[in-house]
Amino acid sequence: MSALDDLLTCLRFPSVSTDSRHNADTRACADWLVAKLTSMGLTTSLHETPGHPVIVAKNKHIAGRRTVLLYGHYDVQPAEPFAEWKSPPFEPTIRDGVIFCRGATDNKGQLIAHVSGLAETLAKHGDLPVNLTILFEGEEEIGSPNLKPFLEAHRQQLACDVVAISDTGMVGPGIGTFTYGLRGIACMELKVHGPSIDLHSGIFGGAVANPATIAARLAASLHDDQGRVLIPGFYDDVKPLASWERSAWAELGDGDAETLSLTGVPALFGEPEFTERERRWARPTAEVNGIGGGYQGEGSKTVIPREAFVKLSFRLVPDQNPEQILDLATAYLLSKAPASVRLEIKRGHTGQAYLMDPQGPLGKAAQRALTKTFGGKIALIREGGSIPIVQAFKDVLKADTLLLGLALPDCQAHAPNENFPIANLEAGIRLNQALLAELGA
Ligand code: BES
Ligand code: ZN
Repeated sequence: MSALDDLLTCLRFPSVSTDSRHNADTRACADWLVAKLTSMGLTTSLHETPGHPVIVAKNKHIAGRRTVLLYGHYDVQPAEPFAEWKSPPFEPTIRDGVIFCRGATDNKGQLIAHVSGLAETLAKHGDLPVNLTILFEGEEEIGSPNLKPFLEAHRQQLACDVVAISDTGMVGPGIGTFTYGLRGIACMELKVHGPSIDLHSGIFGGAVANPATIAARLAASLHDDQGRVLIPGFYDDVKPLASWERSAWAELGDGDAETLSLTGVPALFGEPEFTERERRWARPTAEVNGIGGGYQGEGSKTVIPREAFVKLSFRLVPDQNPEQILDLATAYLLSKAPASVRLEIKRGHTGQAYLMDPQGPLGKAAQRALTKTFGGKIALIREGGSIPIVQAFKDVLKADTLLLGLALPDCQAHAPNENFPIANLEAGIRLNQALLAELGA
């Protein structure tokens, strides 16, 4: 089986972790990975959790060698809206050397690149240059609710010197990119409860508050006109950007034009005192991920809905504490809600931001591996996305994480027509081998 065949097979499992209708598919994907890793000669086990299973695989660990924990996730985001896919979301389709499928980049393409790199090395040399522990999970896209307890329960088995992950981006095709920081996340959902039943808006309108209006007002109360978050205390623990990183990021060129073209928006937005990259990579945000309530069908219906909802998430930066941010947001939203409605607030999953020193010995080893793989100058960046388990690796296993991404800016992760070039699969195989060689030296 070639690396490409393996990736296509892995992609055909619709392992959507958030959707219980796909539980059997998610399980089948885990079972396939276990069989694959076992066939490579790794000692592999599948561990049940209250949710989707965790996979652990190891070569024979030898005293005196560095131990590397390789993490990845086999779950994917939902593929909706289906109609916007040019080819079916779970039938991987290759167009011009690029694989289109849900999970192609996030994270199956990057995960299989590593698996294939290991398979080649094991087939050629019978062993790896390091003690390797693979940790693959099926719940990253829902906030890894069962993985931190798993780390705590298996500290000994998972003990390592460093963690390596490919689940982040590259600044452009062929540009080796080392990510030394990620934003954290804190999610919450508000429900605005009004009358006990939907009301005729002609009979009651004017005397009864409309929950949809209040939901919109609450959502709008989160920001000023320039995108600054208005929750008191929100910025108190934000660590300022270092001047070296501001200049390193400025050297990457003008980010505005690329983001304008990738997103199709008519103009960018956000805190004027920060550049576009600084706003995405190192500034905290509040986002409305969903808002709804009331009549959604064709035509009009004159109704005051009995309830409305807002789904929110905050992207966080060092040293913000996600639970404390949810406390501050709760207090703020309660203070803004009028007495004419009842607010219900549900706290969601959280994950801390991550920041490491890219110039330590392990960071330097990773940068050499990137140079060997891609040549040229390496980009040192932070990113706006979150991998909540990364800070837990630091807290529980006391290990730093090397984030060596293979995702391109136009990979459409989480969106229709997600894609991953075969060239990046091949580069990922070389990167895996270069990285283990550097870490084993
Ligand atoms: N691969 C992403 C994280 C990522 C994306 C890092 C872009 C850097 C750049 C990961 O699979 C992901 O999507 N994470 C979620 C986590 C959340 C559901 C807790 C995210 O960032 O929304
Ligand atoms: Zn993702």
